[in-house]
Amino acid sequence: MKISRRSFLKKALGATAVSLTPAWAARLCFGEPAAPVKEFRLSASRARVHLGEGPTFWAWTYNGRVPGPEIRVREGEIIRVVLRNYLPEEASIHWHGVPVPNRMDGVPGVTQNGVRPGESFLYEFEARPAGTYIYHSHAGYQLDQGLYGAFIIEPAKESGSHDREYTLLLEDWVMKDGGGRARTRRRSPMGMMGGMMRGRSEQAGAPLLEPFYDGYSVNGRLYPHLEPLEVKQGEKVKLRLLNPSSATIYDLQLAGHPMTVTHTDGRPVAPMQTDILRIGMGERYDVEFVADNPGAWLLSARETGLGEGQLRIPVQYKGTRAHTPTPPDFLPGRSVATCWDMQAPYPDPSSSPATPGRFIPQTLSGGMHSPYWSINGEIYPGVAPIRVSRGEQVRLGYWNHSMMPHPMHLHGHFFKVVNPAVPRDLWIQKDTVIVDPMQRVEIEFIADNPGPWFHHCHNLYHMNAGMANVVTVQA
Ligand code: C2O
Ligand code: CU
Repeated sequence: MKISRRSFLKKALGATAVSLTPAWAARLCFGEPAAPVKEFRLSASRARVHLGEGPTFWAWTYNGRVPGPEIRVREGEIIRVVLRNYLPEEASIHWHGVPVPNRMDGVPGVTQNGVRPGESFLYEFEARPAGTYIYHSHAGYQLDQGLYGAFIIEPAKESGSHDREYTLLLEDWVMKDGGGRARTRRRSPMGMMGGMMRGRSEQAGAPLLEPFYDGYSVNGRLYPHLEPLEVKQGEKVKLRLLNPSSATIYDLQLAGHPMTVTHTDGRPVAPMQTDILRIGMGERYDVEFVADNPGAWLLSARETGLGEGQLRIPVQYKGTRAHTPTPPDFLPGRSVATCWDMQAPYPDPSSSPATPGRFIPQTLSGGMHSPYWSINGEIYPGVAPIRVSRGEQVRLGYWNHSMMPHPMHLHGHFFKVVNPAVPRDLWIQKDTVIVDPMQRVEIEFIADNPGPWFHHCHNLYHMNAGMANVVTVQA
């Protein structure tokens, strides 16, 4: 079914009239200047969702829409979010990437009890540091069902010289199978084999197998049903790219324009130009481009040959006549940026080579003949926490023994990516890093945020199939 632009606009307007109520108030604090408080209300509820094409399906949403409303605050503000749960299951909000106090981290069973149906929970913390983050539910498969949105902390002082900015959430969907993630629950571990294997008993409580994604949307719309990103000749345009997908890594290229990467996972990097950028689940990249090539272009993900409906975002210059946008070419000679090509914008004076820190190996495996995924052969839950002392320097050494990439994510901290090709004081900071098949990757962090912190693969299916543990920072 085609949707006319008019009815789409009406729909979009309807969707923004939700109960998102930023309120300003003064906070009374002894001895401290009052920090402004920003309040938001998010209700988790079921809602009918249509991506512009394909079936209308029941999604699980924040405020009745997918993605949830963008939450935007300024660094140093106190953010207060009331989550009210109208779902038939426990829910939560996790502030992916933000080093919040442990009680506010939103991981049921680790940092709080899940918010029960009909109940509410108040999340409150100081928004810092500035950057591009994701908020999402951390219960079961709810991220895949639609419970996520963009969380942007703007710098306290205006920074950056861009003229225009867009936030783009990259999403994977099961279209043929009913829309959303309907029916994926029924998949047996051999589900990929299709009907052939039906009847083979599914182990009770066995994790779900990753479904076959065949729809890729941006901010809840499938191409060509999304509004083009409008730019004006001569502008510097900032794109905040966020990947809340459950199981898809994207290689993105913008036709006709190189991109300059300025931030990864909210942290600044030395500006780096590239044609193609790889972004894994849970990662964020801020990029800029100069609009100096008028026309109609596509920012697209590389065709994998697997799914149809690849991710596409039209970019349209103001005043140019609309025509079919030109796709990127992904030619072999194009530069591809990953976090391994990046370095910090300035040396970190606190990085001392004299403290090697504690080394904790983390072997990642699974996937071959088992529905489970593991770290050091252990399957979460039922894994002893990794205990570290407050202030300790910790190095996690991943060794991926599997044939799948794993974007590993640590809560409560930024870590440095150990990169032998870059001087130690210029290692970049991130909170999620892709560990490729058979690759070894080391990360290092100061355990300065007390409490139990979830640590896991951000492939939702791997996480729920055991590839997780808890790093407990003892106070
Ligand atoms: Cu997006 Cu445990 O995180
Ligand atoms: Cu994984």
